Amino acid sequence: MRKLIIDTDTGSDDAVALIMALKSTEVSVEAITTVCGNVPLDLATRNALMTIEIANGQKPPLFVGASKPLMRDLVTAVNVHGEDGMGDCNLIHPSLEPESEHAVDAILRIVENNPGEIEIVTIGPVTNIALALMKAPETMQKVKHIYSMGTSGFGPGNTTPVAEFNVYVDAEAYRVMVDSGIPLTIIGFDLCLGEAAWNKSDMELLLASGKPEAEFAVNCNRALLDYNLQRSQEHIVDLPDAVAMGVVLWRDILVEAIWCYCYVCTSEEATYGQVIVNDGSKLAISDGFAGHTPNAKVCKAIDNPLFKQKLMNVLLQ
Ligand code: RIB
Ligand code: CA
Repeated sequence: MRKLIIDTDTGSDDAVALIMALKSTEVSVEAITTVCGNVPLDLATRNALMTIEIANGQKPPLFVGASKPLMRDLVTAVNVHGEDGMGDCNLIHPSLEPESEHAVDAILRIVENNPGEIEIVTIGPVTNIALALMKAPETMQKVKHIYSMGTSGFGPGNTTPVAEFNVYVDAEAYRVMVDSGIPLTIIGFDLCLGEAAWNKSDMELLLASGKPEAEFAVNCNRALLDYNLQRSQEHIVDLPDAVAMGVVLWRDILVEAIWCYCYVCTSEEATYGQVIVNDGSKLAISDGFAGHTPNAKVCKAIDNPLFKQKLMNVLLQ
């Protein structure tokens, strides 16, 4: 059976991704590790614990990780996900507790004890992964694969014109991960838009189901819905982390992916957090990246109807 470690900054779309994995019978979630991002670390931890409780699935141990990015102050997304990261509708009252071991030490211990088997799924800033790589690079080379929700993929940024949130929070960490040589699949923000997002009827179906985890998945995304209604008058909830988890769990939803050389910008403020995804198609004489071998498989298209149907099946089963 596949063994996953899920590293999360548990905001509301993370919660849907966690429920997907916890209810799967085809993967073993060996650990959930929390990191600051959407919300400060303590809230990310409480939100993850509550999601484990409500998911009605696997009950993995949870380990608390980095409370700030490697080099910069934390920038959160409470303007998108709500002050508590989960829609600000009083959903979060966990009874579970985290383990005492630090997330970075837990990642290294589990990888060391399962060489070549652990697949790490990052659905937040990758500060914990970078710290693990810096603390024990030889151990981290035993990671089987990293699936990362991060970068804007082949589209524009969502946090700045060129940067996606998970990278923008800690671009130095993302560069450490991308440069590590660990087999890496990137699911960019571009894939969660359009027909991949929940629409009004999707959410009404889930709310009418009487399933606690389905109602929780919609209600915790209320702030995200309000954000989209105010920003673009669209009654939609885009779920980048759920799309990433879909690619991990359901290989048949992936339609196209391209091996690319990904370069993480960290030096200039204007481009901080940008990830230049070079698919080799540009014929510039000196594109600055000539000769670099691809370092990540970047997903370019998924089967949106199949993804949404599988997600509905998980929440309504
Ligand atoms: O840019 C989207 C990503 O940033 C998602 O992981 C969301 O949860 C936030 O962490
Ligand atoms: Ca996230």
